[in-house]
Amino acid sequence: MDVMQAIRGRRSIRKFKSTPVSPEDLNTVLEAARQAPSWANSQCWRFVVVTEQEMKNQLARCFLSRDPTRENRGAVAVRTAPVTIVACAQKKKSGYSSAGTPFTVRGEWSMYDVGVAMQNLVLTAFALGLGTVHIGLFDHKKVEEVLGVPEDIEVIAMTPLGYPDEAIEPRPRKELKEIVFRNKYGQQ
Ligand SMILES: Cc1cc2nc3c(=O)[nH]c(=O)nc-3n(C[C@H](O)[C@H](O)[C@H](O)COP(=O)(O)O)c2cc1C
Repeated sequence: MDVMQAIRGRRSIRKFKSTPVSPEDLNTVLEAARQAPSWANSQCWRFVVVTEQEMKNQLARCFLSRDPTRENRGAVAVRTAPVTIVACAQKKKSGYSSAGTPFTVRGEWSMYDVGVAMQNLVLTAFALGLGTVHIGLFDHKKVEEVLGVPEDIEVIAMTPLGYPDEAIEPRPRKELKEIVFRNKYGQQ
């Protein structure tokens, strides 16, 4: 499968079969994350691989929702998928000098680095026939407590990982002309 096929074919998957993920496939998706580029090669990412059911239940209880009448659909995905990978980052490494000064007005670049690594991971998972969904809407402090994350590390995002048990239609995307400008912002 070439990269564009994986990019076009990947969907957010929130229903999973109970079929386990092989240690080889798990290793391959983590290796894809490891190979991602990062700020000054700082590799600030850390990954917690959660397979124990009670831990997955605890993670699912940390979810927030955009609509108070509906559960974040990521919660059921995390409860039911055989694996959930939680992406964490060392604080003040990416985008910072060794003295702890930010290089840019954006400050932390760890969100960017972790996003790049997680996209490597989810595309590789798709190429292996596995489903994932990027998840960011949860109580990060609670997840840090559940996982026993140390002070200098923060939780950024997570994804369940497993064999899809649903077929998802592609969600719409904006046309290129709506999002791409020439030479100056807003210029077609
Ligand atoms: C940073 C980020 C956070 C997301 N958080 C959630 C989430 O908390 N719960 C959820 O069900 N989906 C979440 N998603 C998945 C998006 O809803 C999904 O990617 C989007 O609707 C496009 O659908 P597609 O991935 O199938 O193309 C998140 C995606 C990203 C990139």
